[in-house]
Amino acid sequence: MITEDYRPTSLSEIIGQEHIVKPLQAMIESLPNSIPHLAFYGKHGTGKTSTAISFMKDAFGENWDSNFLELNASDERSIGVIRTKVKDFAKRGTIGSFTAKDGKTYPIPFNVVFLDECDNLTPDAQSALRRLMEKHKQTRFILSANYPHKIIRPIHDRCAFSSTRFRPIEWRVILNRLCELEGNSCTTAGLTAIAQNSHGSLRKAFNLYDIFNRFPELSICEEDVNDYLGTINKSVIRTLMAKSVSAVKKDEPRMWRAVDSEIDKLAGRGLTGYDILNEIIRYTSEDEKMPTKLRNRIFSLIGDALHWVSVSQDDMLAVKAFLRRFALE
Ligand SMILES: Nc1ncnc2c1ncn2[C@@H]1O[C@H](COP(=O)(O)OP(=O)(O)OP(=O)(O)O)[C@@H](O)[C@H]1O
Ligand SMILES: [Mg+2]
Repeated sequence: MITEDYRPTSLSEIIGQEHIVKPLQAMIESLPNSIPHLAFYGKHGTGKTSTAISFMKDAFGENWDSNFLELNASDERSIGVIRTKVKDFAKRGTIGSFTAKDGKTYPIPFNVVFLDECDNLTPDAQSALRRLMEKHKQTRFILSANYPHKIIRPIHDRCAFSSTRFRPIEWRVILNRLCELEGNSCTTAGLTAIAQNSHGSLRKAFNLYDIFNRFPELSICEEDVNDYLGTINKSVIRTLMAKSVSAVKKDEPRMWRAVDSEIDKLAGRGLTGYDILNEIIRYTSEDEKMPTKLRNRIFSLIGDALHWVSVSQDDMLAVKAFLRRFALE
């Protein structure tokens, strides 16, 4: 799998997360001194698992994986299963030695449990997890979650980085990474479209790249990527909104017909009213030139519109009604 082929093997290869990588490198410098438990929070595909593995490899070299246990809180269903696995792992103790930055060899000072998707644990299970973290003194936990607000306070308090986030990776940084890939046969416009449509996830970027790079004869453009993903080009949204405002100003039914036919075209591509409203939300959040008053008006109306597209028989009608309301007020 492409994402495994390109999984970083050292912290120096983690991109876009310097605010987390640098302190981790400092912790490695200070080994064999102890380190705290760690919390890696942030969106999908931004490097949490890769950072945990890279940390282990940089810290303990070839013995890293004998001292690493990866568990997934949603696979291991109950905290009972996690408790048993952690207990066995912790009881076994650390294995082997490593060379610290001072050039000396030391026994590995702690082993690491990487617990993915912790936000899936119930609060009771999290309390049990907290007790596990306290009980096994020679084991460090690296907790990973997409939704940190679901994690209980006592766990946050026991982990470094709990108020830090893995950031969505900037599209230009993703683009640079894609340009470096060997055997790359996409056009720059195609790679730019992939980077921009990955919304900060390098995993998503690699997967998209893998699909489009199989067709070197096609020069992929933004439209192709949008079509594949079922997303809408920003300029389409911009035009839709601008046309709606002018239709009200000029009071011309002909202009509304043009807006409606644009919406019908999107429906013909298989997009739903919900997809269109989501693109409007994204465009509204990202367009820095949009007047604040207009942005506030869109946000104050879009909640209702999202409700109507989900309950209405004709979701496109709900989108058309939203455009009229936002342009009229
Ligand atoms: N910051 C990054 N630096 C380098 N590679 C990255 C980064 N983020 C993601 N990747 C690439 O994307 C793949 C998936 O990343 P990873 O599994 O670390 O994401 P994650 O944050 O753990 O996602 P999830 O929340 O879904 O578990 C990796 O194999 C790697 O190739
Ligand atoms: Mg992960």
